[in-house]
Amino acid sequence: MPADSERSPDGGPENPERRRFLARLGIGLSALAGVLVGAPVLGYLLSPLIKSPQPRWVDLGPLDDYQIGDIRLAAFKDPSPIPWAGLTAQTAAYVRRTGVEAFTVFSVHCTHLGCPVNWLATAQLFFCPCHGGVFYRDGTVAAGPPARPLFQYRTRLEGGRLFIQTQPLAPTPPKPFDRLPMIGQSA
Ligand code: FES
Repeated sequence: MPADSERSPDGGPENPERRRFLARLGIGLSALAGVLVGAPVLGYLLSPLIKSPQPRWVDLGPLDDYQIGDIRLAAFKDPSPIPWAGLTAQTAAYVRRTGVEAFTVFSVHCTHLGCPVNWLATAQLFFCPCHGGVFYRDGTVAAGPPARPLFQYRTRLEGGRLFIQTQPLAPTPPKPFDRLPMIGQSA
């Protein structure tokens, strides 16, 4: 009669072969789950080393959609190289039209930690909801923790339409006047 430790949960005699098989099956399934979960993450992390992202031009629509003097949010699909990007590929940019053929297109992401900024037309300022970053209409920093202006996309006008180059973003280097004193501070 086998001891308790040698009995299976259903009370029958324990079969060492069966136990070994189940242990190996468990290890195999865990390894498979690890590969299935880890492969996309690893691919995402290593992809910049394997191939550098190519710049792509994205159509933001007819020039007439943008009024001179206005700033408008334009939604577009980021041509992400990651097939499983899904909803995260939906993004937007702020288009500022300053002349017949003069456009500046800002990234919606704050240059502090990347939160999406909001354009407040009444104040003529971009506000970041995360830590109170504020940017002027030309993208330069007005207040808060951001140390550099909003990133700008390269633009191209073609066939009466506005295009932006989505990768890589062209950072706007900080200038001495980008960091203005906050209200109440002396310059
Ligand atoms: S992320 Fe915008 S101020 Fe911090």
